[in-house]
Amino acid sequence: MRNTPSNLLALLTAIVLVASLATSSQAQEPLAIQITGPATAISPDLVGVFFEDINYAADGGLYAELIQNRSFEYSPLDRLEWTPLSYWEMVNRGGGKGSLGLDASRPLHPNNPQYAVVYVDNVGDGVGVRNSGFDGIAVVKGAKYDVSLFVRQLYVERRWGGRAIPEDQAFTLTARLETRDGQNLGETQLRFTGSDWQHPTGVITVNKRESNANLVLLANTQGAVALDVVSLFPQDTFRNRKNGLRRDLAETIAALQPKFVRFPGGCLVHGNGLGNMYRWKDTIGPIEQRRAQSNIWRYHQTMGLGYFEYFQFCEDIGAKPVPVVPAAVCCQNSGITAGRGQEGLPLDQMDDYVQEVLDLIEWANGPADSEWGAKRAAAGHPEPFNLQYLGVGNEDHITPIFRKRFEIIHQAIKAKHPEITVIGTVGPAPAGPDFEQGWSIADTLGVDMVDEHYYMPPEWFLENTRRYDQYDRSKSQVYLGEYAAHDHGRQATLRSALAEAAYLTHLERNADIVRLASYAPLLARRGHTQWHPDLIYFDKHSVYPTVNYYVQQLFSLHSGDQQFDVRIAGREPGDPSTGVFASAVFDSKENTLVLKLVNTTPESEVTRIELPEGYSAESDATVHVLSGDPVHSNPMDPMSRGREAETPMVPKASTMKVAQPLEYVAPAFSVSVLRLKVKGSGGGA
Ligand code: AHR
Repeated sequence: MRNTPSNLLALLTAIVLVASLATSSQAQEPLAIQITGPATAISPDLVGVFFEDINYAADGGLYAELIQNRSFEYSPLDRLEWTPLSYWEMVNRGGGKGSLGLDASRPLHPNNPQYAVVYVDNVGDGVGVRNSGFDGIAVVKGAKYDVSLFVRQLYVERRWGGRAIPEDQAFTLTARLETRDGQNLGETQLRFTGSDWQHPTGVITVNKRESNANLVLLANTQGAVALDVVSLFPQDTFRNRKNGLRRDLAETIAALQPKFVRFPGGCLVHGNGLGNMYRWKDTIGPIEQRRAQSNIWRYHQTMGLGYFEYFQFCEDIGAKPVPVVPAAVCCQNSGITAGRGQEGLPLDQMDDYVQEVLDLIEWANGPADSEWGAKRAAAGHPEPFNLQYLGVGNEDHITPIFRKRFEIIHQAIKAKHPEITVIGTVGPAPAGPDFEQGWSIADTLGVDMVDEHYYMPPEWFLENTRRYDQYDRSKSQVYLGEYAAHDHGRQATLRSALAEAAYLTHLERNADIVRLASYAPLLARRGHTQWHPDLIYFDKHSVYPTVNYYVQQLFSLHSGDQQFDVRIAGREPGDPSTGVFASAVFDSKENTLVLKLVNTTPESEVTRIELPEGYSAESDATVHVLSGDPVHSNPMDPMSRGREAETPMVPKASTMKVAQPLEYVAPAFSVSVLRLKVKGSGGGA
């Protein structure tokens, strides 16, 4: 190359550039993380969970019942191809001869109208029925399973098979767990007499691990029997409760230490048509008396997991219950093709409906000798459940029909129970007509709290980390009841989890008005999922928390009751321009300052942390870090299409010496939580 003036200039420029880059990387200033006081009070309940019966979250999920269609109430209304005998099959063994029928002439309870009838013409080696559970029943060697059913004999004192069946004839059924090819995994005998409904129970101890078992009921007596509510429960449920919850799933939720649980939905609450609204009274009392109904997500709700079980679970895991009742309107998407969309309960039924809502508060909080408190006590819980929050409505279209009914319900609750925090609804999006009109109702009525929902791309969350800074503190408080960052193909990526973490720093900073927040949805059974992504996937064997689960866990386990402002590189709190997001909370019980740093950039960031004036570290810091490849999800994400981490991305804990200056390197694509015991006080709230 010839040295022309312009070439020389280019060379010189290049040398200067390289030199200046070298200087800047050698002397690169750490990113200043300035934590400033005074600390201000925030909600100590910010991070909770939202449980909706979607994706087989209840039946076939958290509810530990292993029999599918146990009450013979499945119907084409649940799913077109379903009948009352779905998941049941006739079994005739070794010369046995019989048939299977269905009846509703003498039901166990009006809420449970149908039952199966097994006719045994010739016993042979057994005549009966078999149930395949949810994708086959997984059983564990040595474990014990409670089996029970409601049963009665037919044709008692009538002629059957050439002889009269005496009233005192004992009838025996063998309840047996079997492999698909008929190997016996364990059995028990169930005996009963006469023609009234009875409830024999037994225990099966399993002799071999099997993932595809059936429950088989074999009649050893000639005659005919009616069967209903055939149930098989592992004895090993969460907290060993009867009619309990699947231990591994319940423990995974409990490990989030959620401060509250919102239930039972979601769209499930307002339902597909007025007759399908979720009515809490149908879900309490003996399971055979609960009114099952179709699930708006196109399957079936037994209501075995009902209000008592939800409240009990909340208590067991130390979470506040946040039930949601319909605002006396059904879902605006009801009967999408032929239906009428949103409808309201007729106004002349509103007194009864309002009473139903008030009865819920009495059921939860009233003394054991009150009418509804007595029902709670009869179920085994004389002490009140301490209900504090009550949601009214879910993502309803804000119409005059809605407004009228919401006002009636709201007025009645506030008049009788001013101590209850009512949560109103403002539609399915972070803005738009329902959002505005929902807020306008809240402003007019002075609703305590509103429930905002949004599912948006990760970028939206990163760009909106100042949303609540602008909210008027004199208005209703906010419950962010449903949110999730939806990445490409609805995969639960680290990228989406980082966006949620960045957003959570913003929520913590604004937790004076954003009192509660819950990711949605919580659970999804692989192969039966109507909505992606979900926080926790599972199948009949195992539980697969997403990487997003660990973000929720980091923020829940390391929460505080006060917050400090954090400036990054001197910028205003919440400024997204560095790609690094931070929040600092103070746990006054532990005297611990918790700094969260979310690095969404592909470079690790050297940070220099300044504690608030008046505070100094007392000991080493505990550090929890979650990081990985941003396009990966944790294994078993059904939407990952091969972009899974080899091993689950989970937070790793370590300790860090605290020196002056306090420097910390935030890895690329990471969430870090630094816990520091501190002394001193900067005049916190
Ligand atoms: O979380 C899934 C669904 O999303 C909820 O049922 C509904 O409230 C929202 O549209």
